[in-house]
Amino acid sequence: MDAIHILGGKKLCGQVRVQGSKNAALPILAAAVLVPGISVIDNCPKIADVYSMIELLQSIGCFAAWEGHTLIIDASCVKDNRLPMEHVTKMRSSIMLMGAMLGRTKEILIDYPGGCVIGERPIDMHIDAMRQMGILFSCKDNKLSASAKQLHGAQITLPFASVGATENVLLAAALAEGTTTLKNAAREPEIAALCGFLKSAGARIAGIGGGTLQITGAISLQEAYYAIPSDRIVAGTYLLACAGCGGSVGLEGADPAQLAAVCGCIKEMGGSLAYDGKAVHMEMKGRPKALPYVKTEVYPGFPTDLQSPLLTVLTVADGKSIVEETIFENRFRTVEALAAMGADIKLCGRKAEITGKDSLHAGRVTACELRGGAALVLAGLMAQGATQVGHKEYIDRGYEDICRDFSTLGAQIKTVQEPKAPG
Ligand code: UD1
Repeated sequence: MDAIHILGGKKLCGQVRVQGSKNAALPILAAAVLVPGISVIDNCPKIADVYSMIELLQSIGCFAAWEGHTLIIDASCVKDNRLPMEHVTKMRSSIMLMGAMLGRTKEILIDYPGGCVIGERPIDMHIDAMRQMGILFSCKDNKLSASAKQLHGAQITLPFASVGATENVLLAAALAEGTTTLKNAAREPEIAALCGFLKSAGARIAGIGGGTLQITGAISLQEAYYAIPSDRIVAGTYLLACAGCGGSVGLEGADPAQLAAVCGCIKEMGGSLAYDGKAVHMEMKGRPKALPYVKTEVYPGFPTDLQSPLLTVLTVADGKSIVEETIFENRFRTVEALAAMGADIKLCGRKAEITGKDSLHAGRVTACELRGGAALVLAGLMAQGATQVGHKEYIDRGYEDICRDFSTLGAQIKTVQEPKAPG
């Protein structure tokens, strides 16, 4: 098992290229199933979740090949509509294959999805929305089967702007008969990316970027090309690392428009930011200032995926901060590890009250989910001395090579093998 070893307490300095977006890549890979031919996906991140999605696609008959960071999927032949448990339970995003497979084969048998342990994460909204499109669902022994004689367009209003439910409706509607209008759709940039891929395959979608999407089903889709945009969560992680460690970093390919809420917090903490058309540059001098109140929200609000990294920075901020988590109910799982490194955080339901300390102390901690794991890497970079973050595999789900990137920014960080537990 791999761990991350960090000699912390150094300022960050340098420029790094931001990888392609995980949350855009995963639904786009699922969407490739709708294309009875080749999809060329450029700037695809080489992360564990993408590899898991590729294995899932291969298990149903698709071919996949890499050329550098370009992923070529051939979905000419889809020969199975069962998604095997060993892949599905690994990753919640496998649920995206539901809309895509229903569009392609009108039938699917799927084990309930796995993924990060950050809350209940039900899929009731996905199911309710797709029922309105003529899909029949049944569930037995933790297996969900869905089929439709004919998928048809519908007027759907989501009770909450769920990212995954919006993506599944888009995927199912792309080949449905007639027009689907989806109200209260999620407006995360990854939705626009999925629409961009589907449009390059010939889908007809209006309202991209807004809260109402209109999808007019096509008879079939054709070969597609799409370049995945940069990962705003990875970019935000690196900006927050700079806020916690101090120094000056440049993030090539980062999109400042997608990072507005994060940049707002960074400025409030005392960081300065600039954009030269190619890279976002940040400089942080001195100790970060506390943030009186931040809450996570749907886009364009502060992203829940950056809540744990923000929390880490605030553990050394000057003053008291409050962070409220409004999206996932179980997303304060790093608090215990941060406390072990000397942080003062009080939890009260969905709110964390953080009293900033002068510094964190180094130690051995363990990642238990993706973004929380990245937050512990930030804690290790900020603390004086040697920190080891166990269970690197959680971090590899979403970061191509977090050690490479932070090394490029001047940190002393490397992957090490953890000795196997006895017995
Ligand atoms: C996606 C992102 C994840 C991000 C999240 C919120 C991917 C691969 N993952 O996850 O990184 O943190 O958006 O921005 O893109 N919910 C229900 N019923 C449903 C669906 C959702 O109750 O049917 C709840 C969830 O439990 C959660 C909230 O709605 O509390 C948000 O979920 P959703 O927006 O669907 O997030 P995901 O698509 O799972």
